[in-house]
Amino acid sequence: MKIIITGGAGFIGSHVARHFVLTYPNYQIVNLDALTYAGNLANLKDIETEPNYSFVKGDIRDVSFIDELFVREQPDAVIHLAAESHVDRSISNPTDFVLTNVVGTVNLLNAARAIWGNDGTKRFYHVSTDEVYGALGETGMFTEETKYDPHSPYSASKAGSDHFVRAYHDTYGMNTVISNCSNNYGANHFPEKLIPLAIHNIKNNKPVPVYGKGENIRDWLWVNDHARAIDVIFHKAAPGSTYNIGGHNEWKNIDLIRLLCKIMDKKLGRAEGTSESLITFVKDRAGHDLRYAIDSSKLQRELGWVPSLQFEEGLEKTVDWYLSNEEWLENVTSGAYKDYYEAQYVQR
Ligand code: NAD
Ligand code: TYD
Repeated sequence: MKIIITGGAGFIGSHVARHFVLTYPNYQIVNLDALTYAGNLANLKDIETEPNYSFVKGDIRDVSFIDELFVREQPDAVIHLAAESHVDRSISNPTDFVLTNVVGTVNLLNAARAIWGNDGTKRFYHVSTDEVYGALGETGMFTEETKYDPHSPYSASKAGSDHFVRAYHDTYGMNTVISNCSNNYGANHFPEKLIPLAIHNIKNNKPVPVYGKGENIRDWLWVNDHARAIDVIFHKAAPGSTYNIGGHNEWKNIDLIRLLCKIMDKKLGRAEGTSESLITFVKDRAGHDLRYAIDSSKLQRELGWVPSLQFEEGLEKTVDWYLSNEEWLENVTSGAYKDYYEAQYVQR
């Protein structure tokens, strides 16, 4: 089996690519990635010489390139992760999100359909987010039946791509699968997102920006558990189906940051409370969704997936990774990445 994994040089994609390359030596894995600021081949250094792995640099917005690639490679499946992924950047530049997330996804669907025809054994797996469901109040959880209600340009673009993937199943009979996952954390995460940004800033004694009052709630999952869930869904889900992925792990932003500060104080040998003094409340994000919480009982019940790590343990492991990969963190915040890193402080 040959699988094109898109966005394999990014945060989640690098874990998915590594998982498939090492778990399935008989599969050929082709990593297709444009290497935007969020894509980094250093994330894949340990697998780059594996005989079942190859990398192709290319942009999913480029129709003729994508069409030719699919004809040349003749993949049996696609696992699609390439996307613009940061909500704050989508607020300052929504069009990029439409072009990569919506149009890029449709380009891939068309290229796959052109070579697969009606062959229902070929699978298109679209990796999506729980943010398509909108925001929750104090109670309730997103299920697979929750009505789509995206609020940010990012979540609107992901909702649009989900709808196109479903439409290709319903209209052309394509064997599609979608999963909607909660917030991920772990190694290789570009330090524009809350957890790696806070680790980077605490380490460098810089302010840790907390939007609004820090009362927004996110449901966090270790990225390697997401990769394992994608494996199970890819192999076992029925055509046209959807699965939510999440670890039942809700945290108020401010509580999460306080826990992270405690872990950082311990790891850096600082007096308790030192890192907490860096917390700085800043202007809130526009349209900031209050709460996400995902019900992944369908995945657990039907396909037997369960998360492997408790959050405290996963967060500590994550901190250890960033502290022992200082060069990675330095590289992605300097040189060619510097403008993108600094542009994270975009208008919210
Ligand atoms: P990321 O920003 O870390 O990585 C995105 C990757 O896509 C990068 O390697 C980038 O180079 C590549 N890419 C971007 N535009 C491209 C283009 N036009 N052509 C080819 N490659 C391109 O993102 P991530 O956090 O790893 O997210 C991966 C996927 O998972 C996304 O589809 C995202 O919506 C989804 N998702 C993310 C989370 C999360 O918490 N990060 C949660 C649920 C779902
Ligand atoms: P983020 O990591 O951007 O993920 P998402 O917006 O996709 O959930 O943000 C997670 C939460 O943390 C979200 O409620 C916004 C908040 N946040 C901060 O308070 N400060 C920050 O510097 C960042 C990047 C996010």
